[in-house]
Amino acid sequence: MPETVLVTGGAGFIGSHTCVELLDHGYEVVTVDNYVNSSPQALDRVAKIARRPLTAAYDVDVRDRKALSEVFASHPVDAVIHFAAHKAVGESVSLPTEYYDTNVGGTCALLSVMREHRVHRLVFSSSCSVYGDAETVPLTEDSPVAPTNPYACTKLMCEHILQDVCARLSEMKVLALRYFNPVGAHPSGLLGEAPRGIPNNLMPYVAQVAVGRREKLSVFGDDYPTPDGTGVRDYIHVMDVAEGHRVAVEHLDDHTGMQVFNLGTGTGTSVLQLISAFSEVSRRPVPHQVVERRAGDVAALVADASAVATAWRWSTTRDLTAMCRDTWRFQELNPDGYSPDLVHAGPKTGELSCG
Ligand code: UD1
Repeated sequence: MPETVLVTGGAGFIGSHTCVELLDHGYEVVTVDNYVNSSPQALDRVAKIARRPLTAAYDVDVRDRKALSEVFASHPVDAVIHFAAHKAVGESVSLPTEYYDTNVGGTCALLSVMREHRVHRLVFSSSCSVYGDAETVPLTEDSPVAPTNPYACTKLMCEHILQDVCARLSEMKVLALRYFNPVGAHPSGLLGEAPRGIPNNLMPYVAQVAVGRREKLSVFGDDYPTPDGTGVRDYIHVMDVAEGHRVAVEHLDDHTGMQVFNLGTGTGTSVLQLISAFSEVSRRPVPHQVVERRAGDVAALVADASAVATAWRWSTTRDLTAMCRDTWRFQELNPDGYSPDLVHAGPKTGELSCG
């Protein structure tokens, strides 16, 4: 019997790529998503790329325990990957209660439903933002945590809850993955990051400037203590992030209790380096202008990626050129993201839906 993995937030940017990776490796995949910040069209594309359907796709909010319990009752779930959450740092500052409700409340609801159905294996989507304003890089999993915004606080709080639950329920096995900066797209050009409205993050903004949808990029500060003065980040290809989740599922039984891992490449790239790489790959200019620093930004965030390399004998393989090339292909093929008419159309894939 193939393993069944339930993916919350399965239609989102990282969730959808992870579904492809799981289907490609023979897993049965059940998704749960409320589509507030994703499109069910992404799930059609997942099935198209993988050339096999999801087992089911549910239009369910993870906080809805009753609906979630019905999903678990309908499938022999072996493991859960929990992506469903709000993720915009700026928005979390203006809507902290909503962030705690969805991110922390959603995780608690999921844990209680998992317990009810005796499902004990979980991969949790955490974030490098838990490290806050790091004094030194690269960051190991033991580097001090000091979140600086409600979004990062919700992720750290969930990690604490999971630690506590694991300490008390010996059957629980949890891996929390702290992603650095996921970018890129599926090489088919069918799946990618399709932010609604003005992108918050660098790569989708750069892509929209290159395609002509936006006039120019604002570079937030060039007076950081970095080689060229602009912010340095550890960009990681979303296909590597997806692969990392599949490998994590395979390693869930290595230990009991909870383990935390960074998911990054260990390589830092500045804003100007990313602009230049993108321009070269797309053969388009990326007009940009240096402006004031963005509030809350830090100079450099780079992972020490050696822990997963040692524990799982796995590391990322896709470089900055691949990240830019695949982002560009998705941008060119989907200049307006997923079709707006399908955004609120409800799930299109799978035999079942509820909620
Ligand atoms: C942010 C979040 C992080 C989240 C990640 C998603 C914070 C502190 N962290 O990371 O939790 O996981 O998004 O990928 O917000 N930049 C520009 N111009 C732009 C946009 C960005 O110069 O228009 C610069 C930023 O100043 C930064 C770099 O590009 O130096 C990356 O920014 P961004 O893509 O927004 O990611 P982070 O802020 O690192």
